[in-house]
Amino acid sequence: MSQKLKLKNKFIPVNTPKIFSQEKKLVIQALSTGWISSEGPFVKKFEENFSKFNKRRYGVAVSSGTAALEIVIKSLNLKKGDEVIIPTFTIISSVMCLIKQGLKPVLVDSDIKNWNMSIEETIKKINKKTKAIIITHIYGFPVDMQKIIKIANKKKIIIIEDAAEMIGQKYKKRICGSFGSVSTFSFYANKHITTGEGGMIVTNDKKIYEKCKSLRNLCFGTKGNRFNHNDIGWNYRFTNIQAAIGLGQLKNINWIVKRKKEIGRRYIKKLINNKNIIIQKNKNSYSENIFWVFGILLKKNYKFKRDFITRKLLMHNIQTRNFFYPMHKQTILLKKGIFKKNNKFPNAEYLAKSGFYLPSGLALTNEEIDFICDKVNKIIC
Ligand SMILES: Cc1ncc(COP(=O)(O)O)c(C=O)c1O
Repeated sequence: MSQKLKLKNKFIPVNTPKIFSQEKKLVIQALSTGWISSEGPFVKKFEENFSKFNKRRYGVAVSSGTAALEIVIKSLNLKKGDEVIIPTFTIISSVMCLIKQGLKPVLVDSDIKNWNMSIEETIKKINKKTKAIIITHIYGFPVDMQKIIKIANKKKIIIIEDAAEMIGQKYKKRICGSFGSVSTFSFYANKHITTGEGGMIVTNDKKIYEKCKSLRNLCFGTKGNRFNHNDIGWNYRFTNIQAAIGLGQLKNINWIVKRKKEIGRRYIKKLINNKNIIIQKNKNSYSENIFWVFGILLKKNYKFKRDFITRKLLMHNIQTRNFFYPMHKQTILLKKGIFKKNNKFPNAEYLAKSGFYLPSGLALTNEEIDFICDKVNKIIC
């Protein structure tokens, strides 16, 4: 069968992770030694290696990126009603962790140049009640950190970096995840490093580190009686089997970032001449894209709607994923009165309405990228 015909009949999922031989060896080791729970030695090793990679002193491995955010927010001991600024164009985890602690999420619109939160709007929204900002890097390109860090430091506002989509990325040669007082990561199957499910908190602050460790593990008692608990926490533990996968993946991070860049650049090369779409940039003055995903935005005056296009791609066995649905439009959050109906964030609304991403996983081949681009250019014309 010709390569073209083979691809025509093959379903291309939006993500397929790449598992290396190292992970398999370490998982077998974990299984054969009987260390399968969170007590196993790989967990500590992975925390050490991952925090070192991110130039942070401490790491706390947890069950997901969402769990990481929940634990971090609780660890900061903010007061009910304190305000925390977040982008509206993000995953709902950023709102859930705040409202569960009685904090007020304050939303900002996206910067249409790079789809990240607008720094200008973030600065405008800072007031006396602002106690923290969750800086979320979106889809592979970091937020422009310099100005916001300077202002936050001056006003004693805590920066939490949500670097879930940003493992191995750098802002001005400094690793993302090393800017926040505390930073969070996700190891879900579509992240640069995966452990199936999982997440990590990194920090240089010993107090935050100790509190996060305790919150991860039911806040077991430390004053004599283990079962007389210190606070209200969670079981958000990370297993030795997950850590085995993570250790193997981390060894390959340089290759992973390199391959993700190649995937992004190949998409750009093949799609750059399509006048009906806006695609992600390869680099700007402060960073080079590591393409967590490869996003496409239909131009505002384009004749067809996004869902029509993604249905057509699916008919060619190409799976896509719509962009985030912004927080200010979430039915559940409006129903609960967290946000008001008349809030307008035009850039985030445009991204949500007209954006989607193409298959971007590490197992994607160059032939598949070429096939996908050929279909995209034929359908979006
Ligand atoms: C920016 C961001 N933060 C947090 C999360 C949550 O991570 P998890 O799926 O591991 O809970 C995600 C998930 O994709 C994400 O993209």
